[in-house]
Amino acid sequence: MKGIILAGGAGSRMYPTSVCYSKQLILIYDKPMIYYPLSTLMLAGIREILIISNAETLPFYERLFGDGSNLGMDIRYALQPAPQGIAQAFLIGEDFIGKDDVTLILGDNIFYGNLDFVRCAIQNNTGATVFGYYVTDPERYGVVEFDESGKAISLEEKPKVPKSNYAVVGLYIYNHEVVQYTRQLKPSARGELEITDLNKAYLASSKLDVELMGRGIAWLDTGTPQALLDASTFIGALEKRQGLKVACIEEAAYMMNFIDTAQLSRIVTSLPQSDYRSYLEKVLKDDLLHHKYQK
Ligand code: DAU
Repeated sequence: MKGIILAGGAGSRMYPTSVCYSKQLILIYDKPMIYYPLSTLMLAGIREILIISNAETLPFYERLFGDGSNLGMDIRYALQPAPQGIAQAFLIGEDFIGKDDVTLILGDNIFYGNLDFVRCAIQNNTGATVFGYYVTDPERYGVVEFDESGKAISLEEKPKVPKSNYAVVGLYIYNHEVVQYTRQLKPSARGELEITDLNKAYLASSKLDVELMGRGIAWLDTGTPQALLDASTFIGALEKRQGLKVACIEEAAYMMNFIDTAQLSRIVTSLPQSDYRSYLEKVLKDDLLHHKYQK
């Protein structure tokens, strides 16, 4: 399973910050936003990741993550010259995907909670798997409608009158046919290859599985300045209470056995004196009650 993080876009809702700064680099409490989706993919067991963004922002991601080898990963980068739709990620990533299955996560989507369901969904996926999450404002998202038996029967992108309260979150699992499906898409009225159209195509072929994301998972919005503040406050409250970091990618790499103690130790030594370094020193000393993932 390969992973793609789509982390470009115009970011116009973040104006004026967006004039000179990418949304996915904005600080969510104590680390850049992109750390959260990256750690979600890592905790799902995905080690090969393509980060897609615009020309201005790609160098910053490269500076943050390099080729990923210090995390025991393979991280690559690709350019999206203009934001022409979320599904375009599969055309840009065609060579990277090859004949594999792929999980796409949007660089501004933050998930918190027990994420084992993602690993399970990856294992069980045959066509495409997407996740529905109950929200009060479904009109802002892709919306899925279910029949009485709980089967997904329709998908709509930002409908004025939503047919349910279930938003489709920005985490999508596809089989190897995704590039073929994407090639058949036509740009929407706003000139984008819509992810919802791709999911509709899988639905029409009876190859779409829609799973509900339970109430125990927080799917945090980062769409507005207030939502960003709320996300920071949420993560800050958790970290302060537990003394455990959310989305610390070095810890995730260690817990997932992507790196061993010696490798983590080398990373720690290379970091500047900071709260982040002190935390990883505690992880190294095994002071924290963390449990390594057993395959
Ligand atoms: O967050 C989940 C929602 O994401 C889904 O429910 C919707 O179905 C899906 O269309 C998407 O809606 P958004 O309104 O959030 O899409 P937006 O255009 O804001 O793009 C989401 C992220 O992807 C954003 O951080 C920018 C990035 N992006 C977007 C496009 C269209 C790109 O990097 N390139 C693009 O071409």
